[in-house]
Amino acid sequence: MTIPKIAIFTDDAGWHGKQLQQAFKNLGYDSAFVSLTECHFNLANPALPIFIPEFETALPAAVFVRGVAGGSLEEVVLYLDFLHALKVMGIPVYNDASAIERSVDKAMTSFLLHHAGLLTPPTWVLRDRETALALMKNELLQGNFIISKPLFGSQGEGIRRIEKMTDLPWLTSSHGVYYLQRFVSCAGDGFSDYRVFVINGNVVATMRRRGKSWLNNVAKGASCERVEPTVEMVELAIKATQLLHMDYAGVDIIEDSKGRLNVIEINSVPAWKGLESVYDLNIAELLAKDLVNRHIKK
Ligand SMILES: Nc1ncnc2c1ncn2[C@@H]1O[C@H](COP(=O)(O)OP(=O)(O)O)[C@@H](O)[C@H]1O
Ligand SMILES: [Mg+2]
Repeated sequence: MTIPKIAIFTDDAGWHGKQLQQAFKNLGYDSAFVSLTECHFNLANPALPIFIPEFETALPAAVFVRGVAGGSLEEVVLYLDFLHALKVMGIPVYNDASAIERSVDKAMTSFLLHHAGLLTPPTWVLRDRETALALMKNELLQGNFIISKPLFGSQGEGIRRIEKMTDLPWLTSSHGVYYLQRFVSCAGDGFSDYRVFVINGNVVATMRRRGKSWLNNVAKGASCERVEPTVEMVELAIKATQLLHMDYAGVDIIEDSKGRLNVIEINSVPAWKGLESVYDLNIAELLAKDLVNRHIKK
């Protein structure tokens, strides 16, 4: 009998990839790291219209999306097309392409959070520079700072804080789009936010991230501290994950100075190394089990 094989989509397998590979192996699955940049549509082959390296003769039993490469709009759309197409062909995609699509796009995430009535900071996304500058001036005059983010960013890359009028000329767009968000002053001393990790509608781990400055990403040197989430935090993280139809997610939440929980983002491809540094947990194992048990037909 051939061993079923799972595709782990990533351009940099690293620690997380290895953890996943081991977890799948423990469950009796082979796996291979594959880049979405190397896949093709090949409709001349009716049996296998999607070419995936390492899966030249049969489609994977499932795919785990650990990373979607950046690129031009056409490139990124093509990568997402592969994920959509695999789902159409009945292959489980974890997280699902639609979930990834909505969450890598910070504008759509913010809109959906707001629309669902989950507290998220006031956000503006637009193309026109003059309008962007005018609304930022207005925010500064009201005593607010503004955060500018790349629309498709992650790990705190490219995020800036605009604090005064003289910062305004430095405002840059992300490929022609301004994503601007009111800065939330967090509760407590210093700077911190929460990362809540949700799998299949359950919170499995929560940490407080303390940034060196207002940027609380682990990739930017924030320290991790295990915390017990409040009931409100658990409910909010689960709601946010369900809103984007995610199998699992890393939800970023900031508690503001009035004690209100603001959802900042919902990551569909979250890292878990920071969490494991403060938890005795094998998150790759939990993810692999969830994918296999709920999605792979026996
Ligand atoms: N509106 C905001 N107010 C205060 N801090 C913010 C705000 N937005 C982002 N941050 C800080 O920047 C970090 C990264 O922002 P986030 O939206 O999660 O982008 P990324 O995808 O790069 O992680 C957050 O964890 C938080 O520390
Ligand atoms: Mg984040």
